[in-house]
Amino acid sequence: MSPSGAQYQPPSQQDLDRARSDPKLANVLYHDWEAGSYDAKWSISYDQRCIDYAHDRYRHVVDASSAGDQADGPYVRALELGSGTGFFLLNLMQAGVAQQGTLTDISPGMVDVAVRNGRALGLTVDGRSADAEQLPFSDGSFDLVVGHAVLHHIPDVEQALREVLRVLVPGGRFVFCGEPTEHGDFVARRLSRLTWWTTKKITHLPALRARWARPKAELDASSQAAALEALVDLHTFDPDRLAATCMRAGAIDVHTVTEELTASWFGWPVRTFEAAVAPGVLGWGWANFAYRGWQRLSWLDEHLWSQVVPDEWFYNVCVTGRRP
Ligand SMILES: C[S@@+](CC[C@H](N)C(=O)[O-])C[C@H]1O[C@@H](n2cnc3c(N)ncnc32)[C@H](O)[C@@H]1O
Repeated sequence: MSPSGAQYQPPSQQDLDRARSDPKLANVLYHDWEAGSYDAKWSISYDQRCIDYAHDRYRHVVDASSAGDQADGPYVRALELGSGTGFFLLNLMQAGVAQQGTLTDISPGMVDVAVRNGRALGLTVDGRSADAEQLPFSDGSFDLVVGHAVLHHIPDVEQALREVLRVLVPGGRFVFCGEPTEHGDFVARRLSRLTWWTTKKITHLPALRARWARPKAELDASSQAAALEALVDLHTFDPDRLAATCMRAGAIDVHTVTEELTASWFGWPVRTFEAAVAPGVLGWGWANFAYRGWQRLSWLDEHLWSQVVPDEWFYNVCVTGRRP
């Protein structure tokens, strides 16, 4: 929604053409368009399920870092980059990690939704559209900077990290989670493509079409969104190289962890299947199966596979560090 409350429209062909050579414009167009339906699409909520999810991601990397046994928070002033609808910081605030939140995103549509979500939860938040490479805040403004699934969209990641360190107080911490690894992304994309293609074929069988197939107009809109999405995903990360980028930007106490191996082999096909069938046909039983399945596999990934499989094979990388 725009500040006036109007729904953002799908981008015009002219905008799409310009976005092909301008990843930041592509991000604004794509995420403005997605803002109103983003929480539903990604099953984002602000209840205990997502509070635990966000807090577990945060704790996993902070506890594993060399500073894990030092006092960590609660923080007073927290900033989120690429907040989207506020999933990460709003849920971390509800978990008690920070008291005041500033939600920023290059997409004004996302900032509107994030601030609305935060205020509806009774949290102390403000919001501002901002490019992570050029933050509109003075030096030392925040005690904590966080982000989830944002670094891979930023053209110059090292410049964004320099900005993060600039706006942190000395000793302040940053935590970025949910970034795709090179190997994890390679596998997830192939599994998703195969699922999309197979589901479309099966749901268009005459016996299933009426109930299961998504209307053509919706599939066309999905394909248009997918074309734009392909322009906004700029990077995948090797954990060691991501840590080196943070250190080049000036960070200390840098630490990475990776997460989700079999959980991502399950999760990506599940999400793709959900997007490819008619809305409303899957119901609560499916949602429960999908969530519990993902949860059990994540547990196995963390407690079993992480002991024997190289960390760069996992889907997500999280990184934390501090300003000297
Ligand atoms: C994949 S979404 C993640 C949103 C949210 N953090 C979450 O996990 O649900 C990435 C977000 O990063 C934002 N973004 C992309 N490039 C950016 C940039 N250069 N500066 C700030 N935000 C950016 C997008 O607009 C989008 O809302």
